[in-house]
Amino acid sequence: MSEPSSQPPTAQSIDELTRSAAAELNTLENLEAVDRWRVSYLGRRGSLTTVLRGLSSLNIEDRRTIGAAANQAKNTLEDQLERRIHRINEEALQRSASQDRLDVTLPGRPPGKGRLHPTTKIVREICNVFVAMGFGVVEGPEVEWDHYNFEMLNIPKGHPARDMWNTLWVDYEDPAGENAMLLRTHTSPMQARIMESREPPIRVVVPGKCYRYEATDATHEWHFYQVEGLAVGEGITFADLKGTLYEFARRMFGEERRIRFRCDYFPFVEPGVDMSIDCFACQGDGDGCRICRDSGWIEIMGAGMIHPKVLEGVGYDTDKYTGFAFGLGPERIAMLKYGIDDIRHFYANDLRFLRQF
Ligand code: PHE
Repeated sequence: MSEPSSQPPTAQSIDELTRSAAAELNTLENLEAVDRWRVSYLGRRGSLTTVLRGLSSLNIEDRRTIGAAANQAKNTLEDQLERRIHRINEEALQRSASQDRLDVTLPGRPPGKGRLHPTTKIVREICNVFVAMGFGVVEGPEVEWDHYNFEMLNIPKGHPARDMWNTLWVDYEDPAGENAMLLRTHTSPMQARIMESREPPIRVVVPGKCYRYEATDATHEWHFYQVEGLAVGEGITFADLKGTLYEFARRMFGEERRIRFRCDYFPFVEPGVDMSIDCFACQGDGDGCRICRDSGWIEIMGAGMIHPKVLEGVGYDTDKYTGFAFGLGPERIAMLKYGIDDIRHFYANDLRFLRQF
């Protein structure tokens, strides 16, 4: 630390003073020492202040040049002082961070709020409607045996009906050298699994993921969900099927919905139908409607009375028991309800889409 000099200041003495002050500053490790340094150089009676005062003893010429140098020296030291303080603070922060202490100066990170996937929401909504009507909810395996996915559903090996389900086979051969394992192409295998494991009366819905060996487009995905429905008991008729599914349509799509059944073919039901609802966008009008493509009707599921062969297959007495089954696609229902135009949005993981639900 230089003593205030009583000599008139020169450019050289100012330069020396600045250098030694700066060098000293750089060795200081804490804010208290830095403040003592500030007082001793820049304070009211500090060395540099004294120099500035000494300017008055100089002639006008020198006063101008040396005065400018002294002012610059003051600015330089003030700058360095500020930087030193900043540096000491930074280092203190880093030390406390590395000691795992809480850095209260960091703004908190807002927790990202999650939400349910639109498929999850609609699956729950569908299941809730059936639960309210007395159905239970069961789930089953996504990797399935040929036996349940096809055989037990009255779709024998080599039967052309197998072409209705483009199948992803698992690379596994049974002792007979057959591909016996697959990714389930629908939730219907659970019909047989459930009936095998319990006695009527049965009322269940089965939500779950299905897979198909399929080129994707706006209405086809290679994986998607289904909700299967199954009701078995004494004296169940097609009227029960209609009543149940009509109620479902009204609860899902609105009180004033009408429904339509047309013949359709699925090997495990007889008779088999597809069920449509009248279009909620155009109220069944049809003309120029984008949602129902001018028809006034929207197909929402396949259904039918369980084929006697399926009941026999699980050992049920077909004189005593009858039942109905249905299968619907939640993504398709969500697309209709929310006006989504491409099924590929569901699993593209684009938050701009997912955040809308
Ligand atoms: N499992 C059928 C499908 O995927 C749908 C269906 C289920 C049809 C139950 C009738 C009864 O196409």
